[in-house]
This record gives sequence, C-alpha cells and structure tokens, in this order.
Amino acid sequence: MNNNILQTTGLSKAFTQSSGDKLEIFSDINFSLEAGATVSIVGSSGSGKTSLLQILAGLDKPTAGYVSVDGKNLQQMSSNQLCQLRNEKLGFIYQFHHLLPEFTALENTLMPLIIGNKNNKEGKEYAGYILNKLGLAKRMEHYPSQLSGGERQRVAIARAVINQPKIIFADEPTGNLDNTTAHHVLDIFLSLQEELNTSLIVVTHDHEIANRTQQKYTLHNGKLA
Ligand SMILES: Nc1ncnc2c1ncn2[C@@H]1O[C@H](COP(=O)(O)OP(=O)(O)OP(=O)(O)O)[C@@H](O)[C@H]1O
Ligand SMILES: [Mg+2]
Repeated sequence: MNNNILQTTGLSKAFTQSSGDKLEIFSDINFSLEAGATVSIVGSSGSGKTSLLQILAGLDKPTAGYVSVDGKNLQQMSSNQLCQLRNEKLGFIYQFHHLLPEFTALENTLMPLIIGNKNNKEGKEYAGYILNKLGLAKRMEHYPSQLSGGERQRVAIARAVINQPKIIFADEPTGNLDNTTAHHVLDIFLSLQEELNTSLIVVTHDHEIANRTQQKYTLHNGKLA
C-alpha cells in the first residue's frame, strides 16, 4: 500500500497548432505525491508549469497518460464526477487570482461551498476564521477592486482552503507580489497547509519559495526531474 494522494502515469501534453504541427509541452511524466507532502515545481517561463498543474488538478486533459487522485483515474470520470471531485477534494490558486469582481472577499471565499451546496453557518464561521488568520478580518465586505494585490491573493488562498481540500494546487501564488509581501503570504499559506494537513503542489519560478517545500522538481525540456 502506498500513501500517494496523486499519481501520474505517462503524462504527456501537446498542442496542435493552426499549421497542423504539434507542439509538445511535456511527455511521459511519472510523478507521485504523498498525502500531506509539499512539493514545488520550478521551471522557466513557457516550460509548461501551468499546463502541467491544470492537468494534475483536472482542469485540462492530457494528450496521453493519466492522473489519479485518491486512487481514481481522472481521465475515466464524467465531467460531473470530475467537478464534484474538484469541489470536494482539490483547491486551486491561479496564477492571476481569478476572484469574481461582483462578489465580496467573504463571498469569494465561500464560493466553493456555495457551488457545492454546502454554504451553511459552519462554513461561514470557518471562512471568518481563515480570513482573520490571513489578516483580512476588516476586509470581508470589500470587493476585489477595493483590495490590494496581496490582499486579493490572500482571498484566493482562503477560497482554495475553505473546503479543507486534500490537495492544494498553487500556480505562482505570490508571483505578482513584492518580495516581502510574497514571503509573508507564503508563511501564512504554509501554516494553513500544515494545520489542515493537506498536500501542496506549488509552481513557481522563485527558487527561494521552492526551497521551502519538502521536495523540489524542475520542469525542463518537457521532463520533470
Ligand atoms: N492553448 C494553447 N495552445 C497552444 N499553445 C499553448 C496553449 N497553452 C499554452 N501553450 C504553450 O505551452 C507552453 C507552456 O505554457 P505554460 O503556460 O504551461 O507555461 P508556464 O511554464 O506556466 O509559463 P509562465 O512561467 O510564463 O507562467 C507555452 O509555450 C505556451 O505558448
Ligand atoms: Mg504559468
């Protein structure tokens, strides 16, 4: 019995260009993530980090190979099953925060619960707890346009952890923050991750951030090493 929460087998991704030529992004990636582990993936711009992360999180499909989460093959799931799995077990922080502009910080945080029909009193209390921990107690009623960059990113973190997911995927979660703010946000993020005992895959081009995870991988020339 292994303790892997996520595993990939022969994972490959290529895009077909308008000319008909194939653009291979990565191929034959065999990767596994242990429950509770923190992993970073570094790589230069355009190396395929976002593409890989989106496939790992079931947001995009590979060209070949498959991803399994909790022993279940994502490629064999219906889109409804996949949505449900993502909603219940996975949290995603996008490279650009992707908050909904017409909802407040609190409502954005609660969105996964609202979508999963689980927006009850406990959920709201938990959202309040997380936002408070992230230093946003006085920003809950602010709309994204009324928040600073670092505050927006912290709301995106709150939204990713609200469901107490088994795996958090973070795509350059601090990429558009200044260095001091980035490390501060990362500190809070790692302490939440530890508290929830959730696994974390973080994509970054920042080696300092990558050094703070237990394992560090590099995506280079379509291979993960
Ligand atoms: N839908 C698409 N169609 C064609 N090519 C794509 C598509 N999406 C991404 N690519 C190409 O795939 C490559 C990898 O993109 P990706 O966004 O995964 O890189 P990245 O490592 O996340 O880069 P960055 O650090 O700049 O965010 C890029 O060269 C990009 O042009
Ligand atoms: Mg990217």
